[in-house]
Amino acid sequence: MHFLTIDDLTTDDLAAVLEDAAALKRAQADGIPHEALPGRTLAMLFEKPSTRTRVSFEVGATQLGGHAAFLGEDDVQLDRGEPLSDTAAALGLYADAVMARVFSHGDLETLAANAGVPVVNGLTDDAHPCQGLADLLTLREEVGDSGTVAWVGDGNNVAASFAVGAAMLGYDVRVATPDGYGLSEDVLDRASGHASASGGSVSVTSDPGAAADGADVVYTDVWVSMGQEAERDERLAAFEGFQVDADLLGDAAFMHCLPANRGEEVPADVIDGPQSAVWQQAENRLHAQKALLVHLLG
Ligand code: CP
Ligand code: NVA
Repeated sequence: MHFLTIDDLTTDDLAAVLEDAAALKRAQADGIPHEALPGRTLAMLFEKPSTRTRVSFEVGATQLGGHAAFLGEDDVQLDRGEPLSDTAAALGLYADAVMARVFSHGDLETLAANAGVPVVNGLTDDAHPCQGLADLLTLREEVGDSGTVAWVGDGNNVAASFAVGAAMLGYDVRVATPDGYGLSEDVLDRASGHASASGGSVSVTSDPGAAADGADVVYTDVWVSMGQEAERDERLAAFEGFQVDADLLGDAAFMHCLPANRGEEVPADVIDGPQSAVWQQAENRLHAQKALLVHLLG
């Protein structure tokens, strides 16, 4: 199977991966070896920069007894005209799985259709499901199995995976975005469908205060994602009033996938303050992705 969106996993499999992630986290903390994937190799293709995704997959593969091979866009033949489908076929001949961070979600689907091995989404313009796994593990740790989670800001790739994943697990999901920057109809339909099945809920608003009021966590992300730099001025104007400051946060935990722009979507006193869960989220990338790799390849 591939992991292109968070709901490529069934809800039962999602819960099982999160249980395994928690167990792997304990094993790592206790120094207990867990080399579940000896001799297996993950090829990692990056069209965009990364700190957390690259290093957590590389370290995770090593801790599982395997290996990860990093391929930046200048390291492969794509810029010289090799079709993505041929690149995918070649990678699949050597590697046991491919993780890719690309702009176009359609390109990720092309990789998946041609690799012949599991393909994992390391972020596209549409979705960031590996971040979603880490975020759901963080939610389990921070608020338990049920609660109210608010997304405030851009209805972007991270928002999409978080909203769909949280709805799958039965959380009450509130999304506040400026007009014109909301989640896509497809994402909202999927999130609502999962919420109906899980007993959760999904609501949308353009009022950050309404979304954050009484929430257990408030999650935001940058206002200008990778590839949107030309829209920067327009976006900063559109997101005025959407900063998650201490007033908006109230007693909630603060979440952010990182990297962050302090002073834009969040002030320093919030992201660096006692209610911030951002380093827990970042650490959980490692444990959640190790569990995912074992689920896909074990
Ligand atoms: N959150 C996240 O995906 O970070 P990187 O862009 O550093 O990988
Ligand atoms: N929404 C951000 C997330 C980075 C991890 C981006 O796509 O740039």
